[in-house]
Amino acid sequence: MPVTAVIGAQWGDEGKGKIVDRLASRADMVVRFGGGSNAGHTIVNEHGRFRLHSLPSGVFYPGALNLLGTGTVVDFDSLNAEMGDLKAAGVATPRLAISNRAHVIMPYHKLMDRLKDASAGVDRLGTTGQGIGPTYADKADRVGFQAGEFLNLPALEARLSRVLHMKNQIVESVYGGESIALETTLDRIRAWAKQFGPYVVDPVPIVRRALSQDSTVILEGQLGVMRDLDWGAYPFVTSSTTFAAGGGAGAGIPPSKIRDILGVCKAYTTAVGEGPFPTELQGAPAERLREAGGEYGATTGRPRRVGWLDGVALRYAVEVSAMARLALTKLDVLDDWDEVKVAVAYRVDGESLEEFPGTAVLSRVEPVFNTMPGWRTSTARARRLEELPGSARAFVQCIEELAGVPVSMIGVGAERTAIVEASHPEPAAVA
Ligand code: IMP
Repeated sequence: MPVTAVIGAQWGDEGKGKIVDRLASRADMVVRFGGGSNAGHTIVNEHGRFRLHSLPSGVFYPGALNLLGTGTVVDFDSLNAEMGDLKAAGVATPRLAISNRAHVIMPYHKLMDRLKDASAGVDRLGTTGQGIGPTYADKADRVGFQAGEFLNLPALEARLSRVLHMKNQIVESVYGGESIALETTLDRIRAWAKQFGPYVVDPVPIVRRALSQDSTVILEGQLGVMRDLDWGAYPFVTSSTTFAAGGGAGAGIPPSKIRDILGVCKAYTTAVGEGPFPTELQGAPAERLREAGGEYGATTGRPRRVGWLDGVALRYAVEVSAMARLALTKLDVLDDWDEVKVAVAYRVDGESLEEFPGTAVLSRVEPVFNTMPGWRTSTARARRLEELPGSARAFVQCIEELAGVPVSMIGVGAERTAIVEASHPEPAAVA
């Protein structure tokens, strides 16, 4: 089987969790390759409703190994809470593995993330405050801590005391915050090492074995292309690679093995945090769409910004991340609208743009909309393309034309089964 990557095609929160959860029923391994507890993957299944932040979405299937890859940054408190939620709901203890090279989100990373964003004034990014940026910054600065260091606590503790001393100076003198006590931090780390040390693995032989045995592997992306560190709307981005290319480095999977890249795209657009959002709605229509879609951040609870689907950004996302097909989610949220819109082009300074622009221009573009009739019928029970109303099919077709790739699944509700299988084969079955 090829490795399938499931990637966000917008600003994040596209519904990747539901799609991965569905594909994971046949997976031997689900790998998160980047990001940390800033993710918020909502999954509704027979056990209940879950919001996974750190855990891969294969945790509901006992057959799947769930790997937090080398490119991730791990929040052990969040992992602990999520494992607790699963247990409380009666889900069998998942098969979990954490790369020994994944970086550890330390308490001071979270503190510094919050202090920095809060003091940034007009330059605020609206991060999730989960310590993502500071942890990746320390990784690049070579003062981070890898999960594998849990296996040699005395060395970790000695180095931590030096690093924390430096961090506390920044916390106090730059941000006017309160320093973090070494002993409390060490206690936390000892508890993490005790609980999660047994899950820390060398991912290389695991991945090698999976590939040589032709196992079914899913790379679970986080956020979306617009929040990618390199190709997103910098600086309003996260600190990691959000698309399939990141799966190579972040999961340790040779890029040539990632032959199947599935983009996940909502039938409209949402974003949390700051930055350009060309198709954003304001006022009553925004309120209506937000309520209909339940658009509140899974990690922060913040009301999400909402708008029409941006076909220009989608086409760009498909191209730069080489998506072969799309899963369109939450089509049912548009069931009650008289008309629905998709941005088909951008204009800036009276000119049409040929290419998706960098942030400086993106913040000034005007979307050009294709307005189509709504369907005003519930799509919730549809399971085959023919069961969707004609206007809904026309809407999907418009998206396919803009994106240049087929839509192979259409989400029409939160539950695992609420999916219209379009005629195109499912990604895992594509050679
Ligand atoms: P960070 O990843 O917490 O550093 O936040 C950077 C940007 O990515 C901010 O605009 C966040 O709101 C956004 N972001 C982070 N995680 C998510 C997510 O799971 N969904 C949507 N946006 C996110």
